[in-house]
Amino acid sequence: MSEQSGAVTKTANGLLQWVDKRLPVLDFWNAHLAKYYAPKNFNFWYYMGGFALLVLVIQILSGIFLTMHYKPSAAEAFASVEYIMRDVEWGWLIRYMHSTGASFFFIVVYLHMFRSLLYGSHRKPRELLWVFGMLIYLLLMAEAFFGYVLPWGQMSYWGAQVIINLFGAIPMIGEPLTEWIRGDFFISDATINRFFALHVIALPIALLGLVVLHLSALHQTGSNNPDGIEIKENKDEDGIPKDGIPFHPYYTVKDIFGASMFLLVFAFVIFFWPEAGGLFLEHDNFVAADPLVTPEHIKPVWYFTPFYAILKAVPDKLMGVILMGVSVGVLFLLPWLDRSPVKSIRYKGAWYKILVFSFAIAFIRLGMLGMAEGTPAQTIEMRVWTFVYFSFFILLFFLSKGGKTKPVPDRVTH
Ligand code: HEM
Repeated sequence: MSEQSGAVTKTANGLLQWVDKRLPVLDFWNAHLAKYYAPKNFNFWYYMGGFALLVLVIQILSGIFLTMHYKPSAAEAFASVEYIMRDVEWGWLIRYMHSTGASFFFIVVYLHMFRSLLYGSHRKPRELLWVFGMLIYLLLMAEAFFGYVLPWGQMSYWGAQVIINLFGAIPMIGEPLTEWIRGDFFISDATINRFFALHVIALPIALLGLVVLHLSALHQTGSNNPDGIEIKENKDEDGIPKDGIPFHPYYTVKDIFGASMFLLVFAFVIFFWPEAGGLFLEHDNFVAADPLVTPEHIKPVWYFTPFYAILKAVPDKLMGVILMGVSVGVLFLLPWLDRSPVKSIRYKGAWYKILVFSFAIAFIRLGMLGMAEGTPAQTIEMRVWTFVYFSFFILLFFLSKGGKTKPVPDRVTH
């Protein structure tokens, strides 16, 4: 080591010690990274939480720069977005990062949630971790909805109209409630202003707070793994889980590799396919909002359409709204609906594989039907898949307790 680099290291160490005496930097580093033991058999699915964190940061950073040029008013919003796309230096890139980021957020979060169904990550002792996850999911949906209204295109305006009117179905308070949400008798300048406030400050703060709680709950119990085995129940003489490896450097390196791959795909979509054929940015939203012209076919963005299809499957508006609410709410109960003695799909019988597979197909198919025009045949199909969707939860409750299982090994497998 040269004299110069020795001096630099000494100064850096001195500085770290100085800070550490005043702030528990090393304690934090050890507790959550260097001496945090994660199961050694993580697979592809375990990338998703890290990717969600990455997208969260991308959304916040790109959002800050969008806010510098965006005008939250009914008269100026649409034009200000066009200005960002055409005149602001690199504005198109920032906007496409944000719009693509929104869709990628949901892709990643849906895969993240599905992993839980595969390996039983929501089961005891991780129920609270799941509940925080679900609260994040609800906030994320609200955040995406408010964000979608901001460009003030045709779909922003009419989508908001449809969603806000759903609250009007509630007996007695429906009408005053919709007025209260809009801040006016119709969707107007007051509406876009408050949605902007919620989208850029209130919900991001709440989301960040919930993510901190989510990760604290995760580190309290430790991660689950593809075998659904509790690694903390099998420790060596030093109290270290035999199937655990320090998160840093093993998983930090793995996650950096994963993040690089993720960013490659993300960049590819931004540069070559930002509208994703109308899935990520809908064609109707390139037309300025016009309260006098209703678009031919109003539908939400793809990540809401499974629930939208459940709403449309029911002829009665109030019942549709209730069923749609239940379809999201029931996910909160998952940790208590699955009563199987084993967690991972690897050690559950064929019954569980069939259940999870049909649930996934129902969710995807409902998502596709929610985007379609809603012909009578499609409406019937929506009802069939809505039935399959709800059957999953009911059958899970009844079949899981006595359902066939395979012996679970003592140690994780590779
Ligand atoms: C902003 C959104 C979210 C972020 C940043 C986030 C972050 C994370 C991270 C970093 C992990 C550890 C790595 C991994 O297991 O993949 C994790 C684990 C977990 N998350 Fe999330 N998460 C989010 C949303 C959700 C949602 C919506 C749910 C479910 C409703 C959820 C449920 C879980 C569960 C059950 C685990 C433990 C998995 C296991 O140990 O097997 N998360 N999350």
